[in-house]
Amino acid sequence: MDFFTARADHTPAAGSNTQIAPRRRRIIVAFTGATGSILGIKTLIALRNLNIETYLVVSKWAEATIKYETDYTIPNIRSLADHVYNINDMSAPIASGSFRVDGMIVVPCSVKTLASISSGICDDLISRAADVILKERRRLVLAVRETPLSTIHLQNMLSVTQAGAIIFPPVPAFYINPSSVEDLIDHSVGRMLDLFDLDTAAFERWSGWKKS
Ligand SMILES: Cc1cc2nc3c(=O)[nH]c(=O)nc-3n(C[C@H](O)[C@H](O)[C@H](O)COP(=O)(O)O)c2cc1C
Repeated sequence: MDFFTARADHTPAAGSNTQIAPRRRRIIVAFTGATGSILGIKTLIALRNLNIETYLVVSKWAEATIKYETDYTIPNIRSLADHVYNINDMSAPIASGSFRVDGMIVVPCSVKTLASISSGICDDLISRAADVILKERRRLVLAVRETPLSTIHLQNMLSVTQAGAIIFPPVPAFYINPSSVEDLIDHSVGRMLDLFDLDTAAFERWSGWKKS
């Protein structure tokens, strides 16, 4: 069984005949107040299509950017997830390492949340859940969106990378010859989910130069 194959939550006692069905894979999706909220929305849709059980947390400033940048309402977005938690709910299951999840993606990730995770300040559910993911040695992907980058941002990116996180700045891949912004979004979402060994099959992979 590989790392990302979901396991049942309870191991049967030795000698027990109980058959326990494997659970669906679980991923926490957190939206923060960086620009690019459509990336988080498309990530949630892709995870739903892949039958992944999702745990959603949306920060206050993420709600503001979603409203400003997209036609989605917050209830629309909540309805895309299996479970939704308030950012201040430190009693949520995902705040504990004993609750089994397979990974977490913060998309888009602000430099403020990056700094909170880097310094281990668990003052909201997003930074607490990310801290738990790191201590449990699970997969954490941060789609940090800022430019240009200061020494502080770069140092925080290095320190979370050393702790096991993956920084995935959602930069456009022009080699795909996009015909729309949608193509660039699908490519970024697909490459982010590749890091969880999930294939959205919604973008074309590089297979060498194409003959014209
Ligand atoms: C329209 C808008 C766009 C923003 N874009 C970014 C951004 O791209 N990157 C970033 O780090 N912060 C950005 N911010 C600032 C964050 O929203 C702010 O630092 C906030 O405190 C982040 O909090 P959160 O991480 O808890 O969501 C933006 C704010 C607004 C209103």
